[in-house]
Amino acid sequence: MDVRSSAPPKKYKTLRGAPGPSHTIVFVTPRKSLLAGVVALLVALVLAVPSAGAVEFERTQLPGAGKTHGSGVPPQTRIVGGAAADISQFPWQAQLRVNLVGGDAFLCGGSVIHPLIVLSAAHCFLDEFGEVEPIESVEVWLGRTAFNSGGELNFGVSLWQPANYNPEANFPHSNSFDYAFLVLDEATGQSRIQVAGPTERALWTPGRIATVTGWGAIFEGGPVSSVLKQAQIPFLADQSCTGPYGAAFDPVTMACAGVLAGGTDSCQGDSGGPLQSPVDGGGFRLTGIVSWGEGCARAGRPGVYTKIAGELVGSVGATVATIEREEEFSPEFSGIQVVGSGARPPGCAASEAALAGAGPPVAAANALVTQRGGEVRRATKALKIAKKAVKKARRSGKRVRSATRRLFKANRRLKLANQGLTDARREAAFAGEALAAATANRTASCG
Ligand code: ARG
Repeated sequence: MDVRSSAPPKKYKTLRGAPGPSHTIVFVTPRKSLLAGVVALLVALVLAVPSAGAVEFERTQLPGAGKTHGSGVPPQTRIVGGAAADISQFPWQAQLRVNLVGGDAFLCGGSVIHPLIVLSAAHCFLDEFGEVEPIESVEVWLGRTAFNSGGELNFGVSLWQPANYNPEANFPHSNSFDYAFLVLDEATGQSRIQVAGPTERALWTPGRIATVTGWGAIFEGGPVSSVLKQAQIPFLADQSCTGPYGAAFDPVTMACAGVLAGGTDSCQGDSGGPLQSPVDGGGFRLTGIVSWGEGCARAGRPGVYTKIAGELVGSVGATVATIEREEEFSPEFSGIQVVGSGARPPGCAASEAALAGAGPPVAAANALVTQRGGEVRRATKALKIAKKAVKKARRSGKRVRSATRRLFKANRRLKLANQGLTDARREAAFAGEALAAATANRTASCG
């Protein structure tokens, strides 16, 4: 357990109401001029490049909504892999925007984990100066499939960020602890997603397939998607990310996922959104938060996700409890279980049933081997007796024919018994192999 992750969350409150202690509060500063913004952005880009190549840490800068992607634009089909999705498949998916003087701008994705809380990425809320966006200007669109229409609008009231999220202090893994809790002004009725809990680690071990969703760029440097998209990607071993990213990848707080061959990935604008893992019997658990990557969908450059279901999961449960208390949620919205338990990977129950079904045939086959073995022993004994009887008959010259006939029969009986034993042993071997395969399959399916 990394002790850093147990530090208390920082709360950024907006100017609403009386300001609290200044060190925990980030005040909204007046919007800088466009020129200053452009200069700072260029500076930020120049600073970001030498340390980690083209690694994308900074919040995506996308054109304001409505300029290029009206609702009349047909859904894009050619994206960074993946396909179109409908919000009904991922009803917890949130679209975050910031509504400022110059119009509103798309920020990021997010996930409803609580009727009053959306979980997103910490970097999503920083402006180009590294300052937290005015939270009351953050729009939270829920229940929306199209990029620019439909759904219900909520507003952010406050933002809770782990105190450990500190790109400068955490260098070289600057984007560690990239998660943040956005408290909503009104409770939403949208279905929420639970973060995968400590008993559910099998859901996100390397090789497991998860789905990442968002309205992010449809190719590196490209426009955002006009509809919600989904892409299936496997979790990868840490080495797949430490290889290309070196120390920027922190295996404690980050998970590596993507297609090493390239072509399928999350991209700018997907940040903060869910990487969700399917659960046996239906549904999903949140197992990652879109965080960063070098470019998008490049070969050998997988996506990096906040490892929210790993060491950080304790902080998720604890922070939500703190928020419920500090923000004085009503009892109806308190004590909400945001961390899951008991969910298993798809196919696990079926593989367990198959394993249970593979046991009895082995027992039956073994019983038959024992039984046929007994028959072989008895037939062997009978043959011995018959041989003796033949000898005796020959010596006495009496009943030779009938003794010989019995010897012949005993011989045949033993032959049949041996055949039977061989068959039973083959059956037992088959059943044993089937059991071994079922056991391996259960292990593969259930983890
Ligand atoms: N930082 C980006 C954002 O703010 C997400 C980048 C994800 N990149 C990737 N290759 N998976 O939207």
